[in-house]
Amino acid sequence: MAAEKKAPSRSPDSARAGRDSVTQSLEVAIATVLRVGHRGACGHAPENTLASIWKARAFHADFVEVDVRETGDGHLILLHDETVDRTTNKTGQVAEMSLDQVQRLNAGNWQRVPTLEEALEIADGALGVILELKVEGIGTEACLIVKRTGFSGPLIYASFLTEELQRVRQADPAAHLMVLFGERLPVDPVADAVALNATHVGLHVGTVTPALIQTYHNMDKRVFTYTVNEPHDIQRMRDLGVDGIISDYPDRI
Ligand code: G3P
Ligand code: CA
Repeated sequence: MAAEKKAPSRSPDSARAGRDSVTQSLEVAIATVLRVGHRGACGHAPENTLASIWKARAFHADFVEVDVRETGDGHLILLHDETVDRTTNKTGQVAEMSLDQVQRLNAGNWQRVPTLEEALEIADGALGVILELKVEGIGTEACLIVKRTGFSGPLIYASFLTEELQRVRQADPAAHLMVLFGERLPVDPVADAVALNATHVGLHVGTVTPALIQTYHNMDKRVFTYTVNEPHDIQRMRDLGVDGIISDYPDRI
């Protein structure tokens, strides 16, 4: 049985400010650690495919995390790498390929590389979504697609690229933003989160400490950690009090 995490303390002002529907959804789910499928549920199906998102749904994950890039003809798709080499049956730079070319590829088990719209459609009504913006210049378009599709669940824009999160903030002042940090934390690990008014930070599993979690919680920011696959690490993250765990195996959380 999973240990319950303590809810972070909140000021009355921030509690009042958080009464929009998306935040309420997040707060309901935060009574226990949020279970997030990484690249869908990529321990069980080819990463960033619709099959992988369906897997996360089947495991009743709270969120699914996916990676977003742009094709040469301006369509947002799910793909982690700059090239299609590792995850499909062909080679090439995705930024030099058309959507039609990309969607002819086999992304594993005869899955297509999905568009962002297709991914949101599968998740809608069942999963929250974390959209990791992998390249500069796609944040505004991602916001437009989210609005156009009418995605109804909680949605968080995440990125290592703070300038891209700035663009999202400009396009949607109410957006939930997750600042991602890598295996080495910056000298000041709160500056970007404050400047962006980020709601979330995403920490590499190797950098999580009680003091860091407390620092962010004191600022009313939620802490998610990636990529946590081993059961003993999942338990350790629970014990440390993170708010969300991102795993290739959301069924293990
Ligand atoms: O959620 C953060 C995590 O997905 C970042 O790492 O390389 O899996 O995109 P990566
Ligand atoms: Ca990612």
